[in-house]
Amino acid sequence: MSNRGAINKAVIPVAGLGTRFLPATKATPKEMLPVVDKPAIQYVVEEAAASGITDVLFVTGRNKESLENHFDRSPSLEQTLAERGAHEMQAKISGLAGLAAMHYVRQGVPMGLGHAVHMAKDHVGNHAFAVLLGDDLVDVSTPVLPEMYAAQAKFGGSILALMEVPEDQIHLYGCAAVEPTDDAHIVRVTELVEKPAPGTAPSNLAVIGRYVIDPSIFGLLENLAPGRGGEIQLTDALAQLIDLPSESGGGVHAVIFRGKRYDTGDKLSYLKSVVSIALDRDDLGPDLRAWLTTYLAGGN
Ligand code: G1P
Repeated sequence: MSNRGAINKAVIPVAGLGTRFLPATKATPKEMLPVVDKPAIQYVVEEAAASGITDVLFVTGRNKESLENHFDRSPSLEQTLAERGAHEMQAKISGLAGLAAMHYVRQGVPMGLGHAVHMAKDHVGNHAFAVLLGDDLVDVSTPVLPEMYAAQAKFGGSILALMEVPEDQIHLYGCAAVEPTDDAHIVRVTELVEKPAPGTAPSNLAVIGRYVIDPSIFGLLENLAPGRGGEIQLTDALAQLIDLPSESGGGVHAVIFRGKRYDTGDKLSYLKSVVSIALDRDDLGPDLRAWLTTYLAGGN
């Protein structure tokens, strides 16, 4: 069982090839695609930092150098901005490296999300940790990690974030069957299936890309056979944690996320995310809304 206490380490897997966005992602990591004026991954790291994470381990792969550069200091750029009197932007740029202590480990061969998380074993040690998936952006106004930490403090073990999705979309996600607990905000997970075949899903509750995980997951991941898609699936190891006694770090609970989430994992969802986030911004929202209205009515 992990040492209880504040969760301050996050693992962010970013080794994916981003084939859905080719050719844009031939030389640019998909995590660096802009969502308005920030790369998608910056939203995720800012969310982690705002939720108390002080240490981020990126599980990277080939061609991710620009991501490392993004979260590093850039003395010449900072100096140029200072010379031009662009102090606000200079502060934003230099602040990126200070969001958390950033660490990198390379996955080598992309063998699945479970394999990526296993790469974090030595860095994480014997303490519960957070995992944030870069394709899922959670709106700052409705953070979910603090609720998950509270659930972990109360129930121990591992905590998922679940979201109701339409039945015809559940096959795109990990899916959880749950039962109530004495806490109205927290459910106990009784079954987990990675991307259930249509018609076989145990519920319409999808696993979204935020996890608080007990370190006992590492031992399970080591011995896990490949699952869906021939990959080592994190969901399969979490499913094994359900039945493990709590003294061994077992037990899986979840909070039901009802806030705003943006998916940047495929082209249409990505476009919707960019438009929604821009519409929410004071500097762009009003003009964009006015233009969209005219455009959709046939104008330009
Ligand atoms: C991963 C997980 C899946 C989860 C999803 C959330 O799938 O394997 O269980 O529901 O993230 O975004 P992916 O989208 O990487 O295929």
